[in-house]
Amino acid sequence: MKFSTVLGALAALTTVSAVKVNPLPAPRNITWGNSGAIPVKWLELRTTESCRQQETLNRAWERAWQSIHTLRWVPAATEAPIPHFQPFPTGAGMTKRAASALYTVDVSVVDGDADLQHGVDESYTLEVTASAGSVKINAQTIWGAMHAFTTLQQLIISDGQGGLIIEQPVMIQDAPLYPHRGIMIDTGRNFISVPKILEQIDGMALSKMNVLHWHLDDAQSWPVQMRTYPEMTKDAYSAREQYSRSDILRIIAYARSQGVRIIPEVDMPGHAVSGWQQVNPEIVACSNSWWSNDVWEYHTAVEPNPGQLDIIYPGTYEVVKNVYSELSDIFTDNFFHVGADEIQPGCYNFSKYVTEWFIEDPSRTYNDLAQHWVDHAVPIFRSSGPNRRIMMWEDIALSAEAANNVPKDIVLQSWNNGLTNIANLTARGFDVVVSSSDFLYLDCGHGGFVTNDPRYDVMSDPSGAVTFNYGGNGGSWCAPYKTWQRIYDFDFTTNLTDAQKSHILGAEAPLWSEQVDDVTISSGFWPRAAALAELVWSGNRDKDGQKRTTDLTQRIINFREYLVANGVMATVLVPRYCAQHPHTCDLYYNQSVIT
Ligand SMILES: *[C@@H]1O[C@H](CO)[C@@H](O)[C@H](O)[C@H]1NC(C)=O
Ligand SMILES: *[C@@H]1O[C@H](CO)[C@@H](O)[C@H](O)[C@H]1NC(C)=O
Ligand SMILES: *[C@@H]1O[C@H](CO)[C@@H](O)[C@H](O)[C@H]1NC(C)=O
Ligand SMILES: *[C@@H]1O[C@H](CO)[C@@H](O)[C@H](O)[C@H]1NC(C)=O
Ligand SMILES: *[C@@H]1O[C@H](CO)[C@@H](O)[C@H](O)[C@H]1NC(C)=O
Repeated sequence: MKFSTVLGALAALTTVSAVKVNPLPAPRNITWGNSGAIPVKWLELRTTESCRQQETLNRAWERAWQSIHTLRWVPAATEAPIPHFQPFPTGAGMTKRAASALYTVDVSVVDGDADLQHGVDESYTLEVTASAGSVKINAQTIWGAMHAFTTLQQLIISDGQGGLIIEQPVMIQDAPLYPHRGIMIDTGRNFISVPKILEQIDGMALSKMNVLHWHLDDAQSWPVQMRTYPEMTKDAYSAREQYSRSDILRIIAYARSQGVRIIPEVDMPGHAVSGWQQVNPEIVACSNSWWSNDVWEYHTAVEPNPGQLDIIYPGTYEVVKNVYSELSDIFTDNFFHVGADEIQPGCYNFSKYVTEWFIEDPSRTYNDLAQHWVDHAVPIFRSSGPNRRIMMWEDIALSAEAANNVPKDIVLQSWNNGLTNIANLTARGFDVVVSSSDFLYLDCGHGGFVTNDPRYDVMSDPSGAVTFNYGGNGGSWCAPYKTWQRIYDFDFTTNLTDAQKSHILGAEAPLWSEQVDDVTISSGFWPRAAALAELVWSGNRDKDGQKRTTDLTQRIINFREYLVANGVMATVLVPRYCAQHPHTCDLYYNQSVIT
């Protein structure tokens, strides 16, 4: 029972509401007593085992402690029982104090060498009692211990008089429901600077997300400097808007130091023209076509600019091999995403190789063409070693032009048709990462970006009940904007059998960047991604199986302020009034309307 361990604690918390701090994500099991807060003067890390990755652990603690003692956090939004509305407490110092203080954090790690890879044990326990005089953390791996730190740093708060306190005793047993908890950045449509990428990693670590899926390039630009083919970055937006090898290594190292894996994606064979065409124009089809042709039936791309790798031209695979193997050497994660979404048949009408291939044997279909790609490209993707796990978008197995036979060990990322596609893929035995666009696409709802669009030029039916405009999708194919409640309420295992559920590795929230750059990326992700972070860490239900979305309210409002305080530029969710007056901004007084 996935949700059985969750949150018996929240009920017990009410007696110490003045310093009641709800870390996000909510731990699977947190038990508070009420003997009173104790002061925290200085916390020194002590580890019982020495491990190869001791330095990583030390730095993680330094970062947590730095945040604790520089912020001296005052929870921005506390919980209040229903229906007695209470004003914001005037200071955490109002609770009684225990006599002793804490000076050390004792960490015990069982396997100090465990690498940060898919499925690594991230569990931990954390115990604070005045009598012990220290914080005790037990974890299987340093990655679990690091999660304990991000919990602890949210529990230690200002005493209102310049010092720090922690409510105690507190006992936490914690572990994620899913091993794959991520967000996706897209640096192909618009460039995202290294510092802004690091900022996202900070937000991820604080919310215990562990996968940054990095969609490196797209049709529009190729920002990655390559040794094999230096000419590829002629299609970067500028000399400034590129990632050098040392930039990439820095991002990987920074992420790893916070327990975050980087899964790179090179989208192939669709969404591929920039960069590739510089190596050899022959390997790219339809780059000079008009993308929509003004007649949708003849479109060559779903958005400008068009271009796909030529699946039949043999020279394509040599370039794919060289690009892939260079990037495989840089990105150390076992997972590598190779795209495979949105292959547009119309594009290949511009390829002499593909059209001849169809003429050669008129029984061939676009499904056979996709199969040709799988048969020729997948062996290349596997060549980087036995631990390599290939990831693709679900299109390769579910679109009208899907391949006939996709190897079952390829992880598929599901983005269409919500539960239907998740059920389909898991029933067929694929491991699935959930990114259903109706729930988890963070870029939706900002209108369309294509220009010269007459559909906006409509004066009748201004609400758009019938037409395209405002009340309709307003030009955003996946409108509306997905709010944190929409994300958190997503029961993505609905109606799945246990066997199907076991194929769900986790979920990712993508933020495609046609309309995103450094200015908007952080507010695009945060704090909404934190709602997903909790959904995949400890779920969206309490121990009785009741949805706890309303319970998340104060937690996520507080967490938003905490993100901003830690330098992650998260957007605001509610008028400040709602934070200060818990539940006054609820739509329903009835606390069980969300089921
Ligand atoms: C939660 O933790 C407490 C304290 O360690 C323990 O007594 C209780 O059994 C745990 N609850 C569950 C459901 O695991
Ligand atoms: C591609 O070309 C074929 C043969 O000319 C034609 O029947 C088909 O409609 C074209 N498809 C697209 C999508 O342009
Ligand atoms: C999955 O979807 C495909 C395409 O719609 C369909 O042909 C197939 O029967 C479905 N399989 C399952 C197990 O639902
Ligand atoms: C789940 O299955 C039940 C029973 O077959 C059905 O009534 C319900 O609509 C399904 N839920 C979804 C979200 O598909
Ligand atoms: C609250 O909402 C739930 C779910 O709609 C309903 O079952 C329950 O009767 C409601 N309670 C009250 C007191 O109206």
